[in-house]
Amino acid sequence: MSPSPDFTQMWRDLEPLGRSSASGGYFRQPFTSAEREAASWFLEQCRDRGLDVTADEYGNVVAWWRPENASGAGVLTGSHLDSVLDGGAYDGPLGVVSALAAVDVLRDRGFTPARPIGVSVFVEEEGSRFGLACLGSRLLTGATTVEQARDLRDRDGVFFVDAVAEAELPAGAGRLRWADLREQVACFVELHVEQGRDLVDRDAPVGVASAIWPHGRYRFDFGGEANHAGTTRMEDRHDPMLTYAMTVLAANKQARLSGQRATFGRVDVHPNGTNAVPSRVTAWLDARAESEEHLAALVAEVERLARERAGLDGTSVVLTPESVSPEVAFDADLAKRIAGADGWPVIPTMAGHDAGILSAAGLPTAMLFVRNPTGISHSPAEHAETGDCLAGVEALAATLERLAS
Ligand code: GLV
Ligand code: MN
Ligand code: MN
Repeated sequence: MSPSPDFTQMWRDLEPLGRSSASGGYFRQPFTSAEREAASWFLEQCRDRGLDVTADEYGNVVAWWRPENASGAGVLTGSHLDSVLDGGAYDGPLGVVSALAAVDVLRDRGFTPARPIGVSVFVEEEGSRFGLACLGSRLLTGATTVEQARDLRDRDGVFFVDAVAEAELPAGAGRLRWADLREQVACFVELHVEQGRDLVDRDAPVGVASAIWPHGRYRFDFGGEANHAGTTRMEDRHDPMLTYAMTVLAANKQARLSGQRATFGRVDVHPNGTNAVPSRVTAWLDARAESEEHLAALVAEVERLARERAGLDGTSVVLTPESVSPEVAFDADLAKRIAGADGWPVIPTMAGHDAGILSAAGLPTAMLFVRNPTGISHSPAEHAETGDCLAGVEALAATLERLAS
């Protein structure tokens, strides 16, 4: 076993992987070279620490610190290494690096866990390549079946199953299966950068999650009639761009009126020519709300307004839900236990996480958040101060110590 690098060194190791020199943001889509490099780095870190690596056929990994006398159901901690397109450095990797650093802190203190501690990385948490958020943890827990995943394709038409088949996955690892893991662990704790400003407002470096808002991704296909941009009279057009544009404004207005969230962040236009009325616009709505009823009502209202406008434009609308995640209430006792000793605030989040999937699969789950000074996330500007990251490592180490004693 070689000596473990500290948090800062591990952070520096990951820094160049998948970073765009143009924006400073990260492109670590699953099974691309940048993401696989990060995955290899993680395996190397695990092996350097003598952790026992297990992996499934999709690249999800759990590496075990299992001292000789450790027994019973253990504690799982970790996060993800993939990013959104042009994302920040912290969303995902902070939880992975902090998990390894927390193990180092405990070892340096001479702590020997009475229960095993597992460090996990789940693939395609962001759904940035195949559209389904938390795909790795969904496949591991069975929330999504292989048959359902078979139809998933990336923007270039590459099927998920083919990308997995061609990817370099951990070799020589033990087998990771949910049925075994569920028996091996009593709880999961994911540390994550905060993706809002709640901890800034509360003047706290660390917080604990109470719940995740229900959220979903909905594809809108607006169909129209391709035609000449100059010779087609304005009143003769069937322009899906107009229906799309009005739907974006309607979604924003409805979300503001009801205190929920709605975003169109991705759009695909066909044929995407400057001098042609488009024949088709496909756009994705990301909607989030405080309850499942509010979410359903928000999406239904956006759809109603889109159809109303389509009637005026002579266009069509087809709505397809692509990735819907119900509300998650994290284990309240676990949150209290983690927050209790240090008085960390307990706050909800509007962002999705693998912790939500594991919680829905019946595993008592908690999350620790690390303050993000600007609250900006899913952007190259995402940030956390090193001092707060180290406070997060300490909080995670204390949590693991408490739960694995
Ligand atoms: C993941 O971060 C999401 O909330 O989309
Ligand atoms: Mn994210
Ligand atoms: Mn994340």
